[in-house]
Amino acid sequence: MDGEASVFVQDAAAPRRPEAERQAALRDPGFGRVFTDHMATLRYTPDRGWHDGRIEAAAPLSLHPAAMALQYAQLVFEGMKAYGLPDGGAALFRPAENARRMQRSAARMGIEPVPEALFLEGVRSLVRADRDWIPRQEGASLYLRPFLMGTDPSFAVRPGRDYMFCVIASPAAPIFGSTTKPLTLWISDTLTRAAPGGTGAAKCAGSYGASLQAVAEAGREGCDQAIFLDAVERRWIEELGGMNIMFVFADGSLRTPPLGGTILPGVTRDSLLILARDMGLTVREEPYAIDQWQEDARSGRLTEAFACGTAAVVAPVGQVRGRRHEFAIGGGQAGQVTERLRTALIEIQRGRAPDPHGWVDRLF
Ligand code: COI
Repeated sequence: MDGEASVFVQDAAAPRRPEAERQAALRDPGFGRVFTDHMATLRYTPDRGWHDGRIEAAAPLSLHPAAMALQYAQLVFEGMKAYGLPDGGAALFRPAENARRMQRSAARMGIEPVPEALFLEGVRSLVRADRDWIPRQEGASLYLRPFLMGTDPSFAVRPGRDYMFCVIASPAAPIFGSTTKPLTLWISDTLTRAAPGGTGAAKCAGSYGASLQAVAEAGREGCDQAIFLDAVERRWIEELGGMNIMFVFADGSLRTPPLGGTILPGVTRDSLLILARDMGLTVREEPYAIDQWQEDARSGRLTEAFACGTAAVVAPVGQVRGRRHEFAIGGGQAGQVTERLRTALIEIQRGRAPDPHGWVDRLF
């Protein structure tokens, strides 16, 4: 609420970039390379609890080189967006889901969780401070990156004591760009991302770090992204390096791998499953084998596949390649169900369609 006292005290002296510079940066922001003027920070110590909330100038952090986040990757993060609304306002999308997921990720990493209300207040306060950084052009939004990390210096391999919660913001287009040119995926059959009992369901830095060699391999193979198989049988499709995957069949059903500890429980994933049911599609959260995918794509039983996530939004998959597989999906073209789901999601997020599930969280 504008004007209400906040735990996050704003530094009025924090510099703002000139209007012309901001407008130039907003014109073609790409993904994750332009950052706004401010950041939200909040500290935790066992004796004081959560304290010292600030909205301050976005600037390099001062961190002890032995900080737990640096030494043992005690760091979890979130990805969410603020969307421009047709009347000039702005909204978040299901932000409480991000707050709760960060709490679950924190628990998995032995990190002190941020209370939901503080998480939401930090995010909202930052967006209000940087409201002029919300891109208004079609497809673009203000990507928000809340993160939480261990800051106390220690080589002891035990959970940290002191933590910092920080939110930074970046005007952004979808990670694969604003067009819906179908992706080519590389099947990572030697490198895995997550194992049962591991951290695959936690949005922790390490889960993403562990995907990077496969993502680099995909790039060398001329592909846009890597797709990971399960770590036990190397057979079941799990997710991409940073987004979930869904499959559409000629019989009108939609399938996605089930959450079971090795897959990130995406907010976009969950929202699309709900929208798909609303559209009358039969939705199955069931394992899907890589060989079956190839067979179904070749026979025409499977007609579409798409990647989905906050950063990716909905991105059709046109080709899949690996050491033992090579196939096209739907003739390599974006499919109609993918497009319908993508549009339905975007129209709700941007306040242009009714919001029957109460997902849109208006900020101003
Ligand atoms: C997101 O979709 O927000 C993600 O966190 C994926 C990736 C950019 C790390």
